[in-house]
Amino acid sequence: MLIVLMAAGVQAGDEVITKPFSFVATSETNALLSAMPVYVDIDPATYNLDSAKLEQAISERTKAIIPVSLYGQPADFPAINAIADRYCLPVIEDGAQSFGSAQHGRRSCGLSTVSTTSFFPSKPLGGYGDSGACFTDDPGLAGRMRRVSRPGQARRYFHTEHGVNGRIDTLHAAILLGKWPNFAQEVEPRGRIGAAYSHKLQAAGITTTPQLAVGNTIAYRSQCRWSNGLRCRRGSKSEAFPQLSTTPPCFANNQLCAASMTAVVRGAIRPWPRRPVSGC
Ligand SMILES: Cc1ncc(COP(=O)(O)O)c(C=O)c1O
Repeated sequence: MLIVLMAAGVQAGDEVITKPFSFVATSETNALLSAMPVYVDIDPATYNLDSAKLEQAISERTKAIIPVSLYGQPADFPAINAIADRYCLPVIEDGAQSFGSAQHGRRSCGLSTVSTTSFFPSKPLGGYGDSGACFTDDPGLAGRMRRVSRPGQARRYFHTEHGVNGRIDTLHAAILLGKWPNFAQEVEPRGRIGAAYSHKLQAAGITTTPQLAVGNTIAYRSQCRWSNGLRCRRGSKSEAFPQLSTTPPCFANNQLCAASMTAVVRGAIRPWPRRPVSGC
């Protein structure tokens, strides 16, 4: 995400619209560039950005919109893209959890101007360590992302701008390439099994599981830790996921969004961070 934001020219004082109910990286990458995340609340059914509330958050300082495709399904891209087009704003999909899903037949990470995903081991296409990818059809943006990620090089040892080391280690790349041919076959049963869990949880009176929006398929599901006294575990861990990123003191001037806060309280997802952070 940092590479995309730098390539898109996000800088100090810019506003970037996103949602508070996400992993902290969505907001933190903006804060690293001294840009301000401006939060739009979630749709309580899908836990994704509520597109009906997006337009009122756009200001003259808005530089980009980051819908997060949380819990494995794409955000409401038809509505979000239409609004963004009216204001000539780029839409950056945070597809860390949704890589492999689709919306009306189009793949997540190919639904907007540019997108990012994560290959962290717990993600839909998990490597054996940390890595990720950015995607775009825009040749100018692609060139800037390449330069930023190598760090700022226009050609070998010819540095024209600030950048970061955004390379994937060769070993991880080889593992991901090895897993890639089977990826589609892995995604489909994961969605099916996730849906079966959701139906059973709903039958047991737990209504807080994410609803799949019309036209979406799902790549990945993780459930809240606590709901109506029942404990749902992700693998062997009992950690809550995702965490609310609104509460860090550095974003304190952004008010909490009601539906996001309800999701946090209902799911007993702990606010981030548990300890105060210094240096924000
Ligand atoms: C929604 C979301 N965005 C961003 C990230 C960050 O991914 P990475 O740690 O690979 O940069 C995660 C990881 O958990 C995530 O869930």
